[in-house]
Amino acid sequence: MTEKNLIKKIHSHTAEQTLDLGKQIGQTVSSQFSIALKGDLGAGKTTLVQGLAKGLGVNDGYYITSPTFNIMNEYPAKNFRLCHLDLYRLGSADELEYIGFDDIMGTDAVIVVEWPGFLEEMQFKFDLEIKFEFDGNYNRIISLFPSGQPGINLVSKLFYKYE
Ligand SMILES: Nc1ncnc2c1ncn2[C@@H]1O[C@H](COP(=O)(O)OP(=O)(O)OP(=O)(O)O)[C@@H](O)[C@H]1O
Ligand SMILES: [Mg+2]
Repeated sequence: MTEKNLIKKIHSHTAEQTLDLGKQIGQTVSSQFSIALKGDLGAGKTTLVQGLAKGLGVNDGYYITSPTFNIMNEYPAKNFRLCHLDLYRLGSADELEYIGFDDIMGTDAVIVVEWPGFLEEMQFKFDLEIKFEFDGNYNRIISLFPSGQPGINLVSKLFYKYE
């Protein structure tokens, strides 16, 4: 297989279907994997992370919300940690240092980032980019853009049942 992006496009009609996609990714992913989540407010990014947490075995006692004000939340999972970032309110790329982003790099964490613009500006390379769009009926079109072999391997293993 080449390094070229293999794109998977999915229609999600309910929040449950988006949760399910996240869960599958969580069950399939291995450590040191990074995911960028793109799409407008309310598009379903955090919903996917809730499913991801379930798939990774994060304890049900944690309620996962957008870490808009604290920028980064970390959750212990079964095999590795889940680091959930939301850079919507980040003022500049320099602030990433203060929230300890460098410290999680190279650790056995799965990193998932809402509003990843600042990291992209710094040429941070995500293994998988997920783009959420509203279709005319308020359903979501979810596109997966893996990059590099780990991302391609992950996407090729997904069996999303609602296409
Ligand atoms: N198909 C769908 N997929 C995901 N969420 C859906 C879907 N249909 C309805 N919803 C609802 O839309 C909302 C999505 O909110 P969510 O917090 O996941 O968005 P977000 O992209 O993280 O927004 P923000 O940028 O503000 O953090 C939830 O209330 C969810 O129940
Ligand atoms: Mg969110």
